[in-house]
Formats: sequence, C-alpha cells, structure tokens
Amino acid sequence: MKLPEFKSKAFLAPMAGITDPAFRQLCSESGAGLVVTELTSVHAIIAKHKEFEKGTGKITDFIEFSEKERPVSVQLFGNEIDKVVAAAKIVEPYFDIIDFNMGCPAPHITSQMAGAALLQKPDHVEKLFSKLVSSVNKPITLKTRIGVNESNCYLWKPISKIAENCGVSMITLHSRTIKQGYSGKSDWKMIKELRATVNEQISVVGNGDIKTPEDAKRMLEETGCNYVMIGRGAMGNPHIFGQINSHLRTGSWNKEDATEKKKTFLKYLELSKEYKTITFASKRTQAMQFTKGIVGGSELRVKISKAKNEEELKEYFE
Ligand SMILES: Cc1cc2nc3c(=O)[nH]c(=O)nc-3n(C[C@H](O)[C@H](O)[C@H](O)COP(=O)(O)O)c2cc1C
Repeated sequence: MKLPEFKSKAFLAPMAGITDPAFRQLCSESGAGLVVTELTSVHAIIAKHKEFEKGTGKITDFIEFSEKERPVSVQLFGNEIDKVVAAAKIVEPYFDIIDFNMGCPAPHITSQMAGAALLQKPDHVEKLFSKLVSSVNKPITLKTRIGVNESNCYLWKPISKIAENCGVSMITLHSRTIKQGYSGKSDWKMIKELRATVNEQISVVGNGDIKTPEDAKRMLEETGCNYVMIGRGAMGNPHIFGQINSHLRTGSWNKEDATEKKKTFLKYLELSKEYKTITFASKRTQAMQFTKGIVGGSELRVKISKAKNEEELKEYFE
C-alpha cells in the first residue's frame, strides 16, 4: 500500500519513554519526515479499547498524538496473529502507518516470543504479515534487527523477503544483533544488502549510530537506503532533523546554541501540558537529555534530579 508523502529523508525512531507526543511534535516541526510512537502492546490496546467501549474514553486517550505530528506511525508489538490484527484495526483510523516491532531485545518482550524473538519464527511471521496486510487499509511497515548474534546475523534476509511477499510497504533495519543490544557498532553493510534484496517499491530505512547530519548523509550514500532513522542522536536534540535537512540540501548546517536548546525544552514543557500520559518523571528524563552539551549542564542535571514539579524545571531552564 502507498506510503504517505514524507517531507524529509530523516525519521524519528520509536523510543519508549522518550518519543511522547510533545517530543514527536518538536521533531516534526524541526523537519522529521516521519515520527513513530513508542512500542505498544497489542494486548494493552485491546484491553483499553474494551474499557473505553463501556465508558466515554477513546483509544487516543491511551496512545495520545496530535495532528501537528503527521505523518505519524503507531508501533505495535505482539505475537498472536488475531490479537495483532484486532489491535491494528482499533488504531487504524487514527494513524498514517502501522509499524510492527521485530527489533526489541528486552527480555520481558522476547519472553512472550514478541519483538526481536520473532526473527527466529519465519513461518509464523509469514502468516502474521499476510493476515495483517490484508486486514487493514493503512500501510504496514516492519522495524527489525539483523539477527540474534554474530554467527546468526542474517535472519533479516528471509524475514525481509517474507515481508516483501506479504505486501509490507517499508522496512527499517536497525543493523545490530539482539545480543549487541544498543552497544557496539551497527553494521551498515547489512542495510546496503537489504536495499539490494527487496524490490524498489519497498522503502528501506537505515537505522543505527546516526549522531550528526554528516552521519545521515553518509548512511544514505553508502547504503542507498531511501530514508534514515535517528534514535539516540535525537534525544534532547530535536534540532537534528532541521540540521540533517539543511546538510542534505545545501551541504552545511548550523549547530543550535544553548539558548535555543533551553527554549526548545521550555516549548516541550508547554506542549506536554496537553497530554495526560506524559508524567512528571518523563518530563524530568527529557530535561536531563536537553542539558547534554550545554555549558553548566552537569550543575543543571543535579538540580533537575531534585526537581519536584514542572515549575522548578521551568525555572532552571529559564
Ligand atoms: C530509550 C530507547 C527506547 C527505545 N524504544 C524502542 C521502541 O519502543 N521501539 C523500537 O522499535 N525501538 C526502540 N528503540 C530502538 C531505537 O528505535 C533504535 O532502533 C536504536 O536506538 C538504534 O538507533 P540509534 O543508534 O540512532 O539510537 C529504543 C531505543 C532507546 C535508546
């Protein structure tokens, strides 16, 4: 199915605890071509939906988003085909893309045979994608890792062919193994191989270790991927999307200064008031991220760690 138009080649990666709707809006306004919600359990979606059916709420009170983020993708994780399809049907009316997670290495997810554990279950994945793609009217995309460990690092290959045959529209490859977690280097050669493996109609998104606009350009050039996805490089740094766009367009970009960074965090605080799912603890986590690279950042972090409310956070950044 046709993907929406993307205004940029740089996408924001889904990150649990980080990519809340206020943060996604900042990234989108900076120039991210696509933003993705954090991974959400299909069981949780189904349970919330049932609860809301009895009352007055709706599923978007549970997975909050705003029109200003569009295009926005919702990421699901799960294993049971019927449950994945049921959850996808619930969220389908609200989101532009439905992304399926096969990359999460966290034991509480892989022990349910979900996330990256599914890399080892190609037959099940084939049944899942074929049912999922034919059941909803939104593009289905896949985010995956390369494999389990160094000696088993080509699991992405059969999985990508399955995704292609089932009609998946886009594949994001985080080019690390489950064993690597988030450390070590990501292997960009795998992204190049993925681009050569699936047909041109399927968009390939390269992910892993993009920290600067130069990295983004290099990944696009070295691998031939259609888009790049930025995770940790965007934490506390939504400016990176505008900078990547500028670098790709003109060959140069300007680094944001500390004042700009502080202003962006204050805007985050303002936007976050609109969302009841953004807790004070997560605002404090975001605040910590925005102090990275600022002169006096370590003193600021000590204060933030003791902050008791939003007013205090605001005061420190002002
Ligand atoms: C704090 C954190 C939370 C993450 N949560 C998710 C998630 O919900 N879904 C997902 O597919 N990947 C998740 N990831 C993985 C990222 O989307 C990305 O694939 C990974 O960080 C590699 O990209 P990077 O090197 O640009 O950070 C998470 C990563 C981090 C650091």
